[in-house]
Amino acid sequence: MTAASGLGWPAVVSVVSPTGLGWPRAGRQRGPVPRETDEPARERSAAMTADPDEAPDPAAAGHDAAKETPGAGEALAGQDGPAAAGDTPIAAAARVAVRLRAPATGDAFARPARTRVIVVANQKGGVGKTTTTVNLGAALALHGQRVLVVDLDPQGNASTALGVHHAAGSASVYDSVIDGRELGAAVQDSPGIAGLRVVPATIDLAGAEIELVPMVARELRLRRAITAHLAALAEEERPDYVLIDCPPSLGLLTLNALVAAEEVLIPIQCEYYALEGLGQLVQTIDMVTSHLNAGLTISTILLTMYDARTRLAAQVADEVRAHFADRVLSTAIPRSVRVSEAPSYGQTVLTYDPGSSGSLSYVEAARELAASLPR
Ligand SMILES: Nc1ncnc2c1ncn2[C@@H]1O[C@H](COP(=O)(O)OP(=O)(O)OP(=O)(O)O)[C@@H](O)[C@H]1O
Ligand SMILES: [Mg+2]
Repeated sequence: MTAASGLGWPAVVSVVSPTGLGWPRAGRQRGPVPRETDEPARERSAAMTADPDEAPDPAAAGHDAAKETPGAGEALAGQDGPAAAGDTPIAAAARVAVRLRAPATGDAFARPARTRVIVVANQKGGVGKTTTTVNLGAALALHGQRVLVVDLDPQGNASTALGVHHAAGSASVYDSVIDGRELGAAVQDSPGIAGLRVVPATIDLAGAEIELVPMVARELRLRRAITAHLAALAEEERPDYVLIDCPPSLGLLTLNALVAAEEVLIPIQCEYYALEGLGQLVQTIDMVTSHLNAGLTISTILLTMYDARTRLAAQVADEVRAHFADRVLSTAIPRSVRVSEAPSYGQTVLTYDPGSSGSLSYVEAARELAASLPR
């Protein structure tokens, strides 16, 4: 038995979301947060990393942590290109930030021949589904793709992170799934990122799991809404990517997402018990493939919250790669305080701190995703 074999295939799991943030955004600052000098950033980072599980913020630590992390390190090298002679670290970071904010046309990703509908699913809580959905969405949009994020989680975290209105009773995905209304009526632009649009989730969606039970074709309702929406759009308005953020369960909402999509992206947190429950998810996907949506495949696995200082993270990554082989993106997302701070400003990490290792890693992951053909 290898050391990695106890990483949680069959066991009990309890994940506590570490964040206390996420209160309504009233009074919060919008726009990029003024960067502090390195010193206060380091102090703050140290304060926030009192929990031994939390890695120091790579952005505040001169990207040291990121350099240790495969993928993140590559991302940095790839984005910066050869360091210009005499370039200071701050100048290099500024160059990267400018490039991320206004990518040169030459850096636009190739657009898919037709809309790719990707569901981001893992019934395990707090593994980075929402973080991945919003940051991949932002990275794709900033590189020339039209992206529609569908928030299918009653928690509405993706709607918060993308800065869209999602008060109870406002137009949302609930209206389409439960009342059969046109999805387009709920679409909003995410402020600050051209090409990124959102169908928000409101708290109304919390009742949908139960309301769906007696409905006819209850697993097909989101699929019908998305298909009708895409068909109603003119070619130049049709999204290249539809990314669906799921709740942490395998209930009817997640089932609706799996039936609506062609690809599943599974974020896996590089922690103990990482693989716990994956078997159940894979079984559910197989069931959907057999009975409801023959075109569905697990196309992409993304390792999240990778802490290069721990052997455990490397063991989880090895085990996941052994199991899912080339479906695992070579870019792993490092654990980064910047990634976890961004949603409390109604932003993605790409706009909140474009030069941070978390931002660069999501751009590299999006680049890999865009380069991969749907399986
Ligand atoms: N790379 C990262 N570095 C640091 N913190 C992260 C990272 N990715 C996610 N987090 C934090 O971990 C927590 C869980 O992430 P997230 O909300 O994306 O998970 P989730 O799978 O969508 O959760 P849920 O199952 O509740 O929907 C959040 O507080 C988020 O800010
Ligand atoms: Mg979530």
